[in-house]
Amino acid sequence: MKKHVVLLPGDGIGKEVINSAKDVLNAIAEEFNHEFSFETHEIGGAAIDQYGTPLPESTVEACGRADAVLLGAVGGPKWDNNPSHLRPERGLLGIRKALDLYANLRPIKGFKNLLHASPLKEEVVKGSDLLIVRELTGGLYFGTPSERRDNGQSVVDTLAYSRKEIERIVDRGFQAAQQRRGHLTSVDKANVLESSKLWREVVEEKKSQYPDVSVDHVLVDAAAMKLITNPTQFDVIVTENLFGDILSDEASVLTGSLGMLPSASLREDGVGLYEPVHGSAPDIAGKGIANPVAMILSTALMLRYSFQMENEGKLIEDAVQSVLDAGFHTADLQIENGSLVGTAEMTKHIVDFIKSQNAAKC
Ligand code: NAD
Ligand code: IPM
Ligand code: MN
Repeated sequence: MKKHVVLLPGDGIGKEVINSAKDVLNAIAEEFNHEFSFETHEIGGAAIDQYGTPLPESTVEACGRADAVLLGAVGGPKWDNNPSHLRPERGLLGIRKALDLYANLRPIKGFKNLLHASPLKEEVVKGSDLLIVRELTGGLYFGTPSERRDNGQSVVDTLAYSRKEIERIVDRGFQAAQQRRGHLTSVDKANVLESSKLWREVVEEKKSQYPDVSVDHVLVDAAAMKLITNPTQFDVIVTENLFGDILSDEASVLTGSLGMLPSASLREDGVGLYEPVHGSAPDIAGKGIANPVAMILSTALMLRYSFQMENEGKLIEDAVQSVLDAGFHTADLQIENGSLVGTAEMTKHIVDFIKSQNAAKC
């Protein structure tokens, strides 16, 4: 099969881990006789430096033509004091909106044999396997731009959601639960926020369309606590944009590192953008020590969701599992024994596993 993939490395470790994704895809192409063509475009700080905007039109156009998009990460201290419209993060929000990628799926599953990598007790983490379905193109992130008032001493951010926006993401949550263990937790702040009251109403109305899914509502503050005290109670969590952002970084603690979490940002038709949950990690950028697993697992999600390449996606996941089982890991995973490796070596072990499966078949 021929597929055209747009690569958006972005900034910091985004530029490093995107190479891992490409190496893995090349190995998959070899193994399964596919042809992946690549085109690289700038986004975020790199685009600001080169084009004076975090999201050049040429990047949007290329993504629009692609079969799928892989994104590293954006941002960094160099651009932190820029005005809002010239911040790298604006590029990321802009491409999500431009492609209408309203559904962000963030699977969180502790790798077996890595339970001790989490700072949480092993018996708490054991068996945790959940999916956060995060609304990605609405809410506070896309409210009316705030203006400073009172001589710059007060500001307003707007949290707006329409019923239609809530319905489509809630449907995604129910559908994901149907494919998994049949339980949906809707996370909101309906004891305070009007938008959350509408959100809860929609979830209640939709319940009857999905009789095979059991539903509960949890307030976001309690959800944050439950995620790290009793994570196995969750199957699918559906929630609005900002809550999903915060809860997913928190949930990464179950896996031992933010560098382990992949994500898929999807619209209705299967075209998607695949990105690790983590950011550009300025504290370790340029050192060659970033964990490539989140990016590589995002690539596996791309193969499954955009290209229906189920076996190929599974082989990548098996490769990651096998390399971790063999004790190889990057420095972000707090493991005492095993072999500490950098980004390139970790990637090479994963690629070698993929190729060895090929050799085994021949
Ligand atoms: P971050 O996710 O970049 O880093 C948080 C911590 O986790 C750091 O200590 C970092 O070293 C570590 N970490 C993250 N990914 C890692 C990996 N793959 N391997 C090893 N360690 C890893 O969050 P931050 O420091 O709050 O933000 C830095 C910049 O990234 C900011 O400009 C922010 O806006 C941006 N950001 C971008 C994205 C994105 O592009 N999707 C996501 C989050 C943050
Ligand atoms: C993420 C990031 C982004 C978000 C930032 C960089 C805009 O934190 O993808 O989780 O908040 O959505
Ligand atoms: Mn985030």
